[in-house]
Amino acid sequence: MKTIVSGVQPSGTLTLGNYLGAIKNFVDLQNNGEEKELFVFIADLHAITVPQEPAKLRNSIKSLAALYIACGLDPNVTTLFIQSEVREHAEMSYLLQTITYIGELERMTQYKDKMKKQENGVSSALLTYPVLMAADILLYNSTHVPVGEDQKQHLELTRNLAERFNNRYSDTFNVPEPIIKKNPQKPPSLPL
Ligand code: TRP
Repeated sequence: MKTIVSGVQPSGTLTLGNYLGAIKNFVDLQNNGEEKELFVFIADLHAITVPQEPAKLRNSIKSLAALYIACGLDPNVTTLFIQSEVREHAEMSYLLQTITYIGELERMTQYKDKMKKQENGVSSALLTYPVLMAADILLYNSTHVPVGEDQKQHLELTRNLAERFNNRYSDTFNVPEPIIKKNPQKPPSLPL
């Protein structure tokens, strides 16, 4: 049986296009009639890798939860949750950091782009962001991960970390496959 995990960041920098592109995909997966387990979360630990205003972030988390439900994600069918409320995400991220090389994180294109935009220094969590993402995925023994094209490199790292851990210790993690949507639908006149 497939186990599918994905999340969206609750940060103001996302456009409606991002939301709708990603969430519509989750709803389609939920309703495609296949037997599966689907986990969809609000990636608030990812959002705080860059500075956030607490009150605004709290609001964005609630809006994203409402959007998930309004778009058709059914909490009776799909497991919906807030990432920071499941402590194991941070724990697993730390454990995976022990097998991650700094060099492979520094090569991530999203890190290089985001780093340039930070005026007051870059947090170490911005560098380890892809390890947290690997933790999100490996924690549930996922078989499939729906993500946008921009997350392909992070998925590749996740697969490498799963294989590295399995080789170094014991066969523990499933090596997940990406489900990459090539041309996400975008509403007219909104940048994606
Ligand atoms: N990094 C993803 C993004 O910005 C969000 C995300 C965090 C995610 N953890 C994940 C997506 C795990 C899929 C699986 O879009």
